[in-house]
Amino acid sequence: MTEVDTVVLGAGAAGLFAAIEAGRRGRRVLVIDHAKAAGEKIRISGGGRCNFTNLGIRAESFLSRNPRFALSALKRYTQWDFIARVDAAGIGWHEKTLGQLFCDGSAKQIVAMLLEDLRKAGGQLWLETDLGAVTRVAAGFQVETSLGPVRAASVVVATGGKSIPKMGATSYGYRIAESFGLPLVETRPALVPLTLAEQELEPLRQLAGTSVAARASCGATGFDEALLFTHRGLSGPAILQISSYWREGDALRLDLARGADAAQALRQMRQEAGRIAIRTALARLVPEKLARYLEDVSGLRGNLADQSNANLDRLAALLHGFTITPVGSEGYRTAEVTLGGVDTDALDARSLQAKSVPGLFFVGEVVDVTGWLGGYNFQWAWSSGWAAGQVA
Ligand code: FDA
Repeated sequence: MTEVDTVVLGAGAAGLFAAIEAGRRGRRVLVIDHAKAAGEKIRISGGGRCNFTNLGIRAESFLSRNPRFALSALKRYTQWDFIARVDAAGIGWHEKTLGQLFCDGSAKQIVAMLLEDLRKAGGQLWLETDLGAVTRVAAGFQVETSLGPVRAASVVVATGGKSIPKMGATSYGYRIAESFGLPLVETRPALVPLTLAEQELEPLRQLAGTSVAARASCGATGFDEALLFTHRGLSGPAILQISSYWREGDALRLDLARGADAAQALRQMRQEAGRIAIRTALARLVPEKLARYLEDVSGLRGNLADQSNANLDRLAALLHGFTITPVGSEGYRTAEVTLGGVDTDALDARSLQAKSVPGLFFVGEVVDVTGWLGGYNFQWAWSSGWAAGQVA
């Protein structure tokens, strides 16, 4: 029988952070994970450079049944706190775009920093260890593991969401929540490419690999980022972002010539170079393959000079308001995160402790808090892990 003060289940971003903080308070901490290495998602994140936070952390960039829940932890341990930590570790970083901060070198530097901090805080780490039931015992909790039972006064569940099962993602955290009677908000893949039905996909296949600066909107929410046509449908940051808001049956509205006034531009081109083909004119506003596709879809024939104002307006409407209805997503296989999770109503916002089960904490992605693409999810992992680590 192993006995510690705090046992942390999951050695990802949130779990390592919680363990380091608890260890710094003098708690005997043990982190357990079934993976071969800690922080695997950190290692592969941001194309190997880890987009570790965002300069513009704010409530609107998080989805949750209670969007204000995350603010308490995010305000207590901020992006500036994490940046200071990265600086202190001598890790170089840069802002790529939209406030997104990446390592200059490698995401492995972040993992190394966390493991070193854990070691200094006196925390133990058990890898390649399977987890079983968590039950209450007199002095706290007992966690069954493949290395025998572990007893601890506090349990921090940090086993993440369902995204990318190939990397070891499981529903373990949700099951533990349920076993203690905590409510869950339905989960679904998010930050995920969207798929199209065969009849819509067929004519679009020629565009696979084409990227365009776009605005992708669903209802009142829209994102100005790159959009990528794929062999299965739509991807790129604009689509990943809107996928968190999209539901089956919803249409997406795509502005494929974001920032341009297509109607005005086409009129001007007709005046200055009326003999050019429609697709040539469109190719001044969007990539050539997309221009050819849009010309086909418009059904218009002849060159630009042959087109009435109404026809040019039709073309402009196609460019700025292309509507398409995805049929699904690529699912957890490729989703960056999981929407939903442990209902925030059941947790104390300051400590992430279950209100009905003192000593049991949930941090990171397993909680019903999901950030936008751009470093928001790691900041939630750091902030929620930090908050739990002050108490657990
Ligand atoms: P995380 O998933 O990191 O850790 C959970 C841990 O629990 C894992 O180590 C897992 O092995 C372990 N575990 C699970 N089930 C278990 C079980 N049954 N028994 C034992 N152990 C178990 N975010 C961001 O802000 N910037 C970025 O650049 C990226 N990039 C990115 C790329 C890709 C490809 C993905 C898939 C995701 C991202 N993300 C991201 C999202 C980010 O990785 C994610 O939000 C955090 O890793 C969540 O941290 P957690 O610690 O909550 O879970």
